[in-house]
Amino acid sequence: MTTSNRLRIAIQKSGRLSKDSQQLLKSCGIKFNVNEQRLIAHADNMPIDLLRVRDDDIPGLVMDGVVDLGIIGENVLEEEQLERELIGKRAEVIKLRPLDFGACRLSLAVPTEFAYQDAASLEGLRIATSYPNLLRRFMQNKGISYQDCMLKGSVEVAPRAGLADGICDLVSTGATLEANGLYETEVIFRSMACLVQAPGELSPSKQALVDKIMSRVNGVVQARE
Ligand code: PRP
Ligand code: ZN
Ligand code: MG
Repeated sequence: MTTSNRLRIAIQKSGRLSKDSQQLLKSCGIKFNVNEQRLIAHADNMPIDLLRVRDDDIPGLVMDGVVDLGIIGENVLEEEQLERELIGKRAEVIKLRPLDFGACRLSLAVPTEFAYQDAASLEGLRIATSYPNLLRRFMQNKGISYQDCMLKGSVEVAPRAGLADGICDLVSTGATLEANGLYETEVIFRSMACLVQAPGELSPSKQALVDKIMSRVNGVVQARE
């Protein structure tokens, strides 16, 4: 792997954070064009490369220092930190600042006909999720045992497909739950997008660039308040 002098920023390729992430960087004066087929977008006016990847991959890329900065939801960041703690792998990032988009919550949800009282209603049942570590922390704190059904996608169809009794998934507007005959019973984690930096020191030239970007991000976000 070649170490680049260009600052590498990872953003979500496609999904809830993509448009807002690109817009924020453009508002900071970084000029770039995204080619949908391409993983990398080079900025024209600054030594910056944008890496367009899956959101779930961004925390690990930042923690491992493969990229210098990342824009990511606190939900996937926290999940990756818990996962790495479990396997004893380095999990630090420098949190530069929270951002003003990407609001969502990780919630428990069950089919409309399910008589839910509290989290204990899920005792011994199977819960489908893409966030096994956040779910485990919540259930352990409550002292409730349950069975896992790990799905990276289509979590919301699991109960109807007979794969699980309930789910633990991200909710933004609630439209996905409603479309799948589910209702939200418990919020277990609230999340926003945030800007994070790889642990350790940057080269002086990269640090100067990060300082410049940060002062612009602060200005852009403040102006939107
Ligand atoms: C989440 C979640 C639901 C959807 C909920 O996916 O998995 O599919 O958003 O949104 P709603 O409440 O507005 O209907 P998301 O696109 O955030 O992440 P993913 O692509 O990584 O699963
Ligand atoms: Zn994802
Ligand atoms: Mg989804």
